[in-house]
Amino acid sequence: MNVTIPDYLQELVYYSGRLSMQEFLRLLIQKFPGQITFSTSFGAEDQVITHEILSNQLPIELFTLDTGRLFAETYSTWSSTNDRYHTQIKAYFPDYRNLEKFITTKGPNAFYESVENRKLCCHIRKVEPLKRALQGHAIWITGLRAEHSPERTGHSLIEWDAANNIVKYNPLLNWTSAEVQQYISKHNVPYNVLHDKGFVSIGCQPCTRAIRPGEDFRAGRWWWEDASKKECGLHVSN
Ligand code: ADX
Ligand code: SF4
Repeated sequence: MNVTIPDYLQELVYYSGRLSMQEFLRLLIQKFPGQITFSTSFGAEDQVITHEILSNQLPIELFTLDTGRLFAETYSTWSSTNDRYHTQIKAYFPDYRNLEKFITTKGPNAFYESVENRKLCCHIRKVEPLKRALQGHAIWITGLRAEHSPERTGHSLIEWDAANNIVKYNPLLNWTSAEVQQYISKHNVPYNVLHDKGFVSIGCQPCTRAIRPGEDFRAGRWWWEDASKKECGLHVSN
């Protein structure tokens, strides 16, 4: 299906560069009531956005893609976030039929065997559930940051996501790690304790390791693969 880029995109681009995150979120709520959703993986960036939304009681949905292979520490962050903000972050799971077939035929750790298997695993556990989570929404908020990888410098604060036919808002795109950390300390926001152990970008447990000093931020994701292939299909740079 060929969906055209909405006319209001340019207006949103204009305001996103001039308003604070909080002001811009409020503008989005006025323009798109009930149609804004935020995906959180409970990383530090996502926790900043969660705090902006929930401490101000903004009517924006929060969801997470529970791949079934997340770290215990990530599930703890999810629980403490629900408790702290008296909320229930919505969970999306993979389609059990596709997952059962994949694990039965390829084995539980097939992602280490080939890029093809790894991408299929990411598709089943993340990309397909994401498509369901985005249905019926006009705006998708993410915690993407440009500093994380060269590919991510290709993103914009507000952009059209052709793969998902949705306007994407990446409010922390140009924040530095230090700014994220300062915000978390200042507001006493719950965070994933793996960040204190050298984990920067945190995904599924079998596919994430801590990084060493001087390594790229995303060196700990799918570290056995060629650096150019390190995206799971959630974020396709347009
Ligand atoms: S990924 O594409 O490599 O997995 P990354 O971990 O950098 O993404 O996270 C970037 C943003 O993608 C997060 O801030 C969040 O908005 C979204 N995201 C990533 N993983 C998930 C997940 N499991 N559930 C919900 N959102 C996610
Ligand atoms: Fe599967 Fe690893 Fe992708 Fe998670 S990150 S969905 S475990 S391949």
